Amino acid sequence: MIVSALKLRVAAIDDIAPSLRHLRLEAADGSALPPTGAGAHVLLSLPGAARTHRNAYSLVNPPGTRSGYDVIVRRVPTSRGGSATVHERLRVGDRLDAQPPGNLFAPVRPARHHLMIAGGIGITPFLSYLQDAGVRQTGASLHVCCRESEKDVFQPWLPDGADVRFHWDADGHRLDTAALLADQPAGTHLYVCGPSDLNDAVVRAAAAAGWPASQVHTEHFGGASAGGNAFEAVLHKSGLRLRVAEDESLLEALERAGVAAPCLCRGGACGVCITPVLDGEPEHRDHCLSPAERASGRLIMPCVSRARSPQLVLDL
Ligand code: FES
Repeated sequence: MIVSALKLRVAAIDDIAPSLRHLRLEAADGSALPPTGAGAHVLLSLPGAARTHRNAYSLVNPPGTRSGYDVIVRRVPTSRGGSATVHERLRVGDRLDAQPPGNLFAPVRPARHHLMIAGGIGITPFLSYLQDAGVRQTGASLHVCCRESEKDVFQPWLPDGADVRFHWDADGHRLDTAALLADQPAGTHLYVCGPSDLNDAVVRAAAAAGWPASQVHTEHFGGASAGGNAFEAVLHKSGLRLRVAEDESLLEALERAGVAAPCLCRGGACGVCITPVLDGEPEHRDHCLSPAERASGRLIMPCVSRARSPQLVLDL
């Protein structure tokens, strides 16, 4: 059974770019919502044509906001439903279920400086960072790699005086990651949010430049759970057999069947959905299992990972 603790109403919809839509969400009964935090996200239940999708979106509000939640959603051409629902089906006044904000990507408070690198819509968690009094007092710089046509659309969320630089794919405008990482004050923490390719490249560059892993933080999104071969999930304890379709995740199949399936990030990063595997071969797409855990084949993150074998038996 999925517990949805919040009832929200779509208060405003605003297309800020051809593929970017801003949603303002408020409590359906007009009450104050649980407060937002820097780097926090909200998990929305989005009714699609065939089923309800549960997607996590970063909150771009100033930390501590209780009057409503603001999110920015990119229309993904290969969307399996969540972004398509936001861009095509949602109307002002619609009601949505949601879970209270979670935070897997909060700024590290003992940092001496905060250096942020974003790829495209990966800017969203950093919009709340830049509005956080503690982060601003410590000192923060944001570098955004994006399309040139989108470099101005986030201005309404950038506080005056914030150190923000945009980079795009043209001579003189590309981000020189190695040079940036080589020129930071001691005690700087690095945060990266973007597509896996960008995240991986920045993490590699940081390691090559001698940054301690404990000062490098990433938030992944997109791609990892974008489907694959269909397979059968057998739930050992309940005896349930579920078909996981090509275009849905194992977690979505469990939710569709009404199975209690804990989750938080839905992106293979937090480890909350970890599930024991009794038989079959997992195809790991998460960012949290160790190499040894992957090799054992006995654990899986159903939010992103799938099966290489036709059947996967889970200890559920
Ligand atoms: S919900 Fe976070 S790893 Fe699956």
